[in-house]
Order: sequence, then C-alpha cells, then structure tokens
Amino acid sequence: MALPWIAAGLAGLLALHFLQKTCFPYFWADLIYLLKVVRYGLRIEIYKRTGSVVTVVDNFMEQARRVPNKPFLIYQEQVYTYRDVDRRSNQVAQVFMKYSPLEKEDTVAMLMSNEPDFLNVWFGLAKLGCRLAFLNYNIRSRSLLHCFHSSGAKMLIVGADMVETLEEILPNLQEDNISVWVMAKEVSIKGVNTILDKLEHVTDKPVPQHLCHVSSIRAATLYIFTSGTTGLPKAALISQLQTLKGAAGIWAFGGTEDDIVYITLPLYHSAASLIGIGGSIYLGATCVLKKKFSASQFWIDCKKHNVTVVQYIGELCRYLCNQPLKEGEKDHKVRMAVGNGVRSDVWKEFIRRFGDIKMCELYGATEGNICFMNHTGKIGSVGRSNIFYKLLFPFELIKYDIQKDEPIINEQGWCERVKKGETGLLISQVNKNNPFFGYAGNKNHTTKKLLCNVFRKGDVYFNTGDLMVQDSENFLYFRDRIGDTFRWKGENVATTEVADIIGMLNFIQEANIYGVAIPEHEGKVGMASIIVKANETLDVKTIYEQIVTYLPGYARPRFLRLQENMEMTGTFKQQKFRLVEQGFNPSAVPDPLYFLDDSEKSYVPLTKDIYDKILSGQIKL
Ligand SMILES: *[C@@H]1O[C@H](CO)[C@@H](O)[C@H](O)[C@H]1NC(C)=O
Ligand SMILES: *[C@@H]1O[C@H](CO)[C@@H](O)[C@H](O)[C@H]1NC(C)=O
Ligand SMILES: *[C@@H]1O[C@H](CO)[C@@H](O)[C@H](O)[C@H]1NC(C)=O
Ligand SMILES: *[C@@H]1O[C@H](CO)[C@@H](O)[C@H](O)[C@H]1NC(C)=O
Ligand SMILES: *[C@@H]1O[C@H](CO)[C@@H](O)[C@H](O)[C@H]1NC(C)=O
Repeated sequence: MALPWIAAGLAGLLALHFLQKTCFPYFWADLIYLLKVVRYGLRIEIYKRTGSVVTVVDNFMEQARRVPNKPFLIYQEQVYTYRDVDRRSNQVAQVFMKYSPLEKEDTVAMLMSNEPDFLNVWFGLAKLGCRLAFLNYNIRSRSLLHCFHSSGAKMLIVGADMVETLEEILPNLQEDNISVWVMAKEVSIKGVNTILDKLEHVTDKPVPQHLCHVSSIRAATLYIFTSGTTGLPKAALISQLQTLKGAAGIWAFGGTEDDIVYITLPLYHSAASLIGIGGSIYLGATCVLKKKFSASQFWIDCKKHNVTVVQYIGELCRYLCNQPLKEGEKDHKVRMAVGNGVRSDVWKEFIRRFGDIKMCELYGATEGNICFMNHTGKIGSVGRSNIFYKLLFPFELIKYDIQKDEPIINEQGWCERVKKGETGLLISQVNKNNPFFGYAGNKNHTTKKLLCNVFRKGDVYFNTGDLMVQDSENFLYFRDRIGDTFRWKGENVATTEVADIIGMLNFIQEANIYGVAIPEHEGKVGMASIIVKANETLDVKTIYEQIVTYLPGYARPRFLRLQENMEMTGTFKQQKFRLVEQGFNPSAVPDPLYFLDDSEKSYVPLTKDIYDKILSGQIKL
C-alpha cells in the first residue's frame, strides 16, 4: 500500500531538489532546522502521552550521573563539576526538608545575583517540587514588593550580597509572615534565617525522587518577571514546556557537549536561565558564569576559558564593538553567538572585527507562545518562516496605527494582514498546540495580552507588542516595540511604573513616560513629560531624589519635558507618538527640557551644548 506513495514521494523530492536550487535557496536550511524542531516536538509529545515529564532538573540529575566529573560551572576561577552542583543542591533541599518543610508547588522567590548558589537554590528547591520566582535584583522597595507579592510566594531567599535591598522591604515582608532566608552563615537582622550554617549539618544525599515528579508538560515551574506591554512588571508563568523549548535552543543551532558557554546576562532573565543554563544542561556542556557583563573582560575571559559559545543581547555586541581596538581580537575559539536584538550594522561590524562567529538570532517573548530563529544566517533577520513553520506556529502580521496605538480595524470589524514588506504587529494564534500560560495573579493582565475576534469570531491571538516586517523571501525583521514599554540597556522599562513613581510627588499633576531613540545606541532612553499642578512649582531636585530612590538605573528618565497640558489620543490614552517624534532636541521642542545629571545630583536645563555632547558621545548615557 505504501510503496506507490514512497515512489511518488521520492520522485517528488528529486523534482523538488532541482526546483529548490533555483527557486528555494533556503530549502535545506529550512528542512534541517524543521526536522530538529519536529524531533524535539515528538519527544515533548511523548511526555504528554505518558504523563511523565523529563524536566530540565531531571535532565541535570541525569547528566550528574552520566558525567559526574565534568565541569558544569566555572565562576571566578572556581570549577564546579556536575556532581558538585548536584550535591550542593541536594543539601539545599535537605535544609528545607529539615528546617522549614515546603509543600509541592509552593512558590519560593529568589533575590540573588549571578553566582553558583543561584543554581544550587534553583535546583535544590525544584528537587522538592517547588516553583521558583526569579526577582530582578536591580529593582528595589515598592516595585520589588510588588513583584514579590504578584508571584504569590510565601518564602524569600536572598543572596548574601543583597541584604541591604532586603532590609528596605523586610518590615513589609514580616507583616505578612513571609519566611526570609539569607545565603549566609549568620546575619545580624532579627527574624531572618540563614542557610549556609545549616548546610554544613545536612547530608548531600538526594531527597526522595517522587517529590519532583512532574506529570504535566503544562505545569508551572518558574515565574520570570517581564514588563509585558502594559503596566507594572508581571510574573510570567513559565511552564515545563517553555523550559524544555528554551533548553533546546543552543542544540538546535548546532551546539554540542564539548561547547563552553559564556553567560554574562542576568540569570533572572529567561535568556540566561532557560537558554543558557538549560541549554548547557541539555548538551552536558560547561558554562562560564560571570557576575556582571564587562566589555573589557569579555574576550580575555573567552580566551582564558576556551569559550566556544557566547550569549548576547544587541546592546552587548554594541558595547564590544565600541571597545578600543586591540591586537589579536580574532584570536579566540568562539564559534557561535546566541541571542537577540543585534542590528544589522552592529552585526556586520561584530563579525568584521571579532571573526567568523555564527550569529544565531532568536526571537521570543519570555511569556510568548512563538519564537523564531535565524537558521539561515541572513544578516539582521530574526528568522525565517515557511509554510511548515506557519502550520506549527500560526502567526500573522496585522496593520497597526502607531499614532492611535491600536490595531487597525476594517469596516467589517476585523483586523487586516499587512502585505510583504510592510510593517505590522506580530500576533500568534493561541490554540492547543501553542498555549499561552499567562501571568500569575491578576487575570486582567493575562487577558490584556490577548486579542480576540481578530479575523473571525472566537479566534484568540497573543499580542507580542512587536512591530515586524516580512520580506519577499519570508525573512522577518524586528522594527519597533509598541505599547507601554521600551527597552534600555537590555531591560524592559514599564512606562506606567515610572509614571507612578513620579506621580507620587505632590506637585506633579501628570507624568507621561516614553522612550526616545538616540543614534548609536540600542533601545530607547527614558523621557518624562510632566505637568505641574496649578499654583505649584517644579522641583527638579526632588524628582531626582524620588527616581534615584525608587527606580533602577535603566528605568530613570534621562530627560524631562515640562508641558502645559497633556495631549490625549482618541481613546483617552496619553499621546506618546508625537512626543517620541519630537525627542529631546532643545532647538526643536518648544517646552523647557531638563537633563539628568548625576554629578549635580539633580536635573539641569538641557542646553544646546549638552545636547551636542550627547549626540557626539562625549556625555555617556
Ligand atoms: C502571622 O503568624 C502569626 C503566628 O503564627 C499569626 O498569629 C498571625 O495571625 C499571622 N499573621 C498573618 C498576617 O498571617
Ligand atoms: C584551552 O585550549 C588549549 C589548547 O587547545 C589548552 O592548552 C588549554 O589548556 C585550554 N585551557 C583551558 C582553561 O581549558
Ligand atoms: C545565523 O546567521 C549566521 C550569519 O551571521 C549564520 O552564519 C548562521 O549559520 C545562522 N544560524 C544558523 C543556525 O544557521
Ligand atoms: C479587571 O477588569 C475589569 C473590567 O475590565 C474591572 O472591572 C476589574 O476591576 C479588573 N480587576 C482587577 C483585579 O483589576
Ligand atoms: C491658585 O491660586 C489662585 C490665587 O492665589 C487661586 O484663586 C486659585 O484657586 C488657586 N488654584 C488652585 C487649584 O489651588
């Protein structure tokens, strides 16, 4: 029965082969990539069918049995083997079994910087079946509390270097009976527990295996904070499925067990934790972990540790390209870079300067249900789609009105697809195979990210908030981000959060926050347009103190614009489009402008001189 089909199939393939040479130059690249996707998809399908998921942490324990003596982590010259991390994470699990029993599926929040114990705590608690919420260690006080509470955690674990941040929020945590643990032998704060002293007195044997058994691929395992496109940071629910997809990233791009992966991005982001750490575990490779990215140390570290794979974000490539030229810059073993957001000009410069490194662009929101990979290596493109890919991951680009800040609806009441080459909003269909897991807590956040009745009644799409273009060869290019967030220094800034903080001041009537583009910089720098209450005066020093106290560096508006009244859009949203267009040029903007000057510890009037120095790079932002 099957024979004629096979023969026909072969003939078809042969014909296709000649056709593809001329018409479909990317056929094999597409196919090989797709086969990998399908192969991995089948594995996940088996987990679904059998009700027994091999999670990233199971995978780690398996590697610890298979290659116990292989270095897993290198941190500040210290080498930790797979066995070392396995045992120490067992100890973390044992400490909590003994001193503060946790239930399966309890959520524990972590406030830790990039260090080996981040992984020991993560894996240790995962071995107890707990969910982890990775808090961003740059944020403080009010915002930090907001994040902590939105994850629904009952316990907080804090790195020894984060105690100061902890002290700011401790009274609030204690009011709510949150159990707080510090990765230290002792602390001098009342009511706070320590872990390291107890670690010495427990066994490093594994806790019972059944505790971390996972039966559903959709089970939540992590909360990672994202700013989404609206409102305060939200705890995006990361399912086992997403961690498994993330862990396949480096492998899909051609990573192997012999790779040494250099991670300088913060572990609280999904890029470092899911793709970098998860991916290294999947391969059984080695990670070189860095506390913080350093442009001057980058290649020194890569050479010293024989690094073969690096993770990047667009900003990072630009910082490296901005470093002074050195001899022997191509003299390293890095063969692949995995990340996202590098612009074509930087991409070209990066390769020219640092050698033939395979740049693997990857697009995907932490909480999204779609991802693209550059599997053909077209400079600047985030990936390529084809018929098969669209069957697996149905997505569309729809027409979007950037002035009104909403999708364009036609006369029949539906959204419309853009033509090839036109910019549109990327949305991806939510269905059984591409579920959207949403955010913890407030259901409204989840529904706000979804568009319903897009092309027909009852359809549901995930709104990525990203404007993209698809060219005639189906390559996709990132254009801009819409809504209430912008990116600066690799972090998402939630404009409403910044507006809230400035709005707390009693002389402010209204604040409108947006990002403005600056030449030679990735992302957008923050700007606040403010209106002062009648009979009150602007006090820039107080604004400075307010934002420095409550906002992390990347979220502080570098520019202020003092307006008389606020323009609204037709749908009563603050008009940002025109403000963004007008930017911060003092000769073009009719209103008074101010510039955040850290040396003055205040905002200072933005003069033409300052403006010119910013553009020429003499003043660094
Ligand atoms: C905190 O714990 C104490 C003692 O266990 C209990 O009496 C109190 O009601 C708790 N408070 C809250 C807000 O849960
Ligand atoms: C890096 O590779 C070189 C040669 O392949 C080897 O001699 C050296 O020991 C390696 N360094 C490390 C840190 O593994
Ligand atoms: C991604 O793009 C680069 C071009 O810089 C190319 O060399 C590489 O092969 C591409 N990635 C994959 C997985 O093919
Ligand atoms: C959710 O949205 C509805 C209407 O859009 C509103 O009435 C309700 O208060 C919101 N709930 C929360 C918890 O914000
Ligand atoms: C502002 O001051 C004027 C005169 O002092 C007064 O008439 C007016 O009511 C004040 N407006 C507000 C909003 O306080």
